[in-house]
Amino acid sequence: MEEEKLIKKINELKKEKGAVILTHSYQRAEIYKVADFIGDSYELARKASQTEADLIVFCGVDFMAESAKILNPEKRVLIPTPKARCPMAAMISDGQLKELKEQHKDAAVVSYVNTRCSTKALSDICCTSSNAVEVVKSLPHKKIIFTPDRNLADYVRKSCNKKIIPWNGYCYVHDTFDASVLKSLKEKHPDAKTIVHPECRPEVVDLADYVCSTSQMLDVAREDDARQFLIGTEIGMIERLKIEVPDKEFISANEAPNICLQMKQNTLELTLKSLEEEKYEIKIDEDTLRKAKNALEGMLGLK
Ligand code: 13P
Ligand code: SF4
Repeated sequence: MEEEKLIKKINELKKEKGAVILTHSYQRAEIYKVADFIGDSYELARKASQTEADLIVFCGVDFMAESAKILNPEKRVLIPTPKARCPMAAMISDGQLKELKEQHKDAAVVSYVNTRCSTKALSDICCTSSNAVEVVKSLPHKKIIFTPDRNLADYVRKSCNKKIIPWNGYCYVHDTFDASVLKSLKEKHPDAKTIVHPECRPEVVDLADYVCSTSQMLDVAREDDARQFLIGTEIGMIERLKIEVPDKEFISANEAPNICLQMKQNTLELTLKSLEEEKYEIKIDEDTLRKAKNALEGMLGLK
């Protein structure tokens, strides 16, 4: 089916079923056209906690759809394909986190939303890239176990006066930005400002003018006077910046664009099928959901 027809069918069905489509910035640009809301992980979690729709289709990855379900246990949350699974979220097991908690009994556990629901259930509070420093600072604890991203943990460590015990996970999309490549790109584009995601390595973060979540990148691109930007995040965000800020130039801060293959598993065809057949529904057991809700609501200030 051609794109226009697919979009029309999705929009009709969405209306008929009273559904909303929440979409992360790393999705394919054509999915933006059927989205009710496009945002970063924090904004999407907040939107999910506020929506009145009974059916939520989440065009993103597993942990985002799970967060929407955790915040709306009585609603149905669908993800267009079960293949959209974040590899970083799978880098820490419950056993590993329990062992770490045992070793550091006086530490609070802060888990990035990019985790499985069982990891959230074992955590005191969640955070996203846009509020990680704020969340860690808000806790009375001097010692923090931070899971699963070692790079975000390092960024947090440098921004607050606490002992951070990082888990050694990483995002393969961001961890491959290279400081020497970025240095030569900065020499080639001396007037460009550099914006990177805190999932990038510390030596890449050190070269940036701004360290931001995906939506914060949009604000910087609009507000900063620079005409050209080097962007250290997934290609989808560069596409979104080009659409939303068309008078400025956005260049990948790497030799080739970095692609999250899991985010790109969602397509318009699968989104339509998801609405038609009402699959794949997110299911979480009651006990895990209740504990994970506590950690997520702590981050959203809902507790
Ligand atoms: P944000 O949208 O919070 O910036 O996160 C980026 C990311 O890696 C999501 O998978
Ligand atoms: Fe996971 Fe990285 Fe893809 Fe985000 S960009 S979904 S953290 S692999």
